[in-house]
Amino acid sequence: MSDHGSQPNDSTPDKQGAARSLDAHVERYAQRTAGMTASEIRALFAVASRPEVVSLAGGMPNLAALPLDSIAGEVAGLISADGQSALQYGSAHGVPELREQICDIMAMEGINAHPDDVMVTVGSQMALDMVTRIFCDPGDVVLAEGPSYVGALGSFAAYQADVVHVAMDDEGLQPEALRQAISDVSAQGKRVKFLYTIPNFHNPGGVTLAVDRRAEVLEICAQHGILVLEDNPYGLLGFDGQTYPALRSLDPDNVVYLGSFSKTFASGLRVGWVLAPHAVREKLVLAAESATLCPPTLNQMIVSRYLTSHDWQGQIKVFREQYRERRDAMLGALEQHMPEGCSWTRPDGGFYVWLTAPDGVDTKAMLPRAVTQRVAYASGTGFYADRLGSRQMRLSFCYPTPERIREGVRRLANTLTDEMELVRTFGSVSQRTVQGPQAPSPDTA
Ligand SMILES: Cc1ncc(COP(=O)(O)O)c(C=O)c1O
Repeated sequence: MSDHGSQPNDSTPDKQGAARSLDAHVERYAQRTAGMTASEIRALFAVASRPEVVSLAGGMPNLAALPLDSIAGEVAGLISADGQSALQYGSAHGVPELREQICDIMAMEGINAHPDDVMVTVGSQMALDMVTRIFCDPGDVVLAEGPSYVGALGSFAAYQADVVHVAMDDEGLQPEALRQAISDVSAQGKRVKFLYTIPNFHNPGGVTLAVDRRAEVLEICAQHGILVLEDNPYGLLGFDGQTYPALRSLDPDNVVYLGSFSKTFASGLRVGWVLAPHAVREKLVLAAESATLCPPTLNQMIVSRYLTSHDWQGQIKVFREQYRERRDAMLGALEQHMPEGCSWTRPDGGFYVWLTAPDGVDTKAMLPRAVTQRVAYASGTGFYADRLGSRQMRLSFCYPTPERIREGVRRLANTLTDEMELVRTFGSVSQRTVQGPQAPSPDTA
């Protein structure tokens, strides 16, 4: 008997009409939307919200230590005293006082900048989009460390840029690999527009570019007429309070620098910035105007006021200590529980450890089994434009408590041990699943 219940099913006129109209929309999309696919990060946030799962997946900062009552008082005072400005449009460039404060912050990593060359953005993610928008035509090449930040790869894909990865080791980007990548790209008759790099406490790699490599990387790029896009949201989160000279401080004319308050204050305010050579900054302001008119005035004023009225450096110290404790919990648990054959990075700042499993393990295929064991991670392929990284995963220690981290790593080690046993018995998991259905994403597992 056919189903004629009251709920429409796939064969009802309603559903058929909706499917037809969806098809019509898909045909109308611009070609550039082909590169816009759901990042693995989306699914990760869904997993993180399940209380029974220890999520080592997302990169959410831990805001528990922020003085919320005092910030609330400041925000209320700000609106009462200065609401007409705070709730009004502002300039695309950003609030002048905040741009001056941003210059003081960048001075901590050796940057000498003028507030005119700073543009405030809606998080550094917007800056990534703007820089790619003004520099990349379809088919242009962007060099990026392999692995690299998912959100940046998303922006590059959205503008149809081709990403060529450059290998890293424990000291960050390898200058020799950079030279090789540039020569390979030019042999193919393609044009490199910029090198995208996260020199400090890399996301997801957890490594830092050695100080003596910095000048070399800049010199290679300058020799080949390649701009450097330096993304530095974690630079002040060195666990011993250490900072490194920003690339921008070493070559101001050839580096566009991105900064953010997301990891050192409040990610939800969405306040970041870009510091660019003057001519580039002009073009960025025009691009930003067409995207957002201006960054949110209220949020900029909140950040500015927080910087003047709170001990923000003391607060960063509190964050650093918290993250160091969590890093120690993760490294200790990895040492204790991980099966033979796994290796991982040992970050001295930031949020992430990058783990490599033995040959044959496919971390994306394993993820649903890990979620069944109530632990989640970010599988490695999402951090590459070319689907490398199948043996890798990113583990974040920023959000869960040390106890949860230890428990999560223990569960992960059990999952990996079982997986390695399967690989030994039946061969590589990816070979076994190649004909099968796609592994469910973590929020559907
Ligand atoms: C390397 C890197 N760049 C940029 C961003 C985006 O940060 P924002 O919140 O400032 O947009 C992140 C966020 O995780 C990141 O890790």
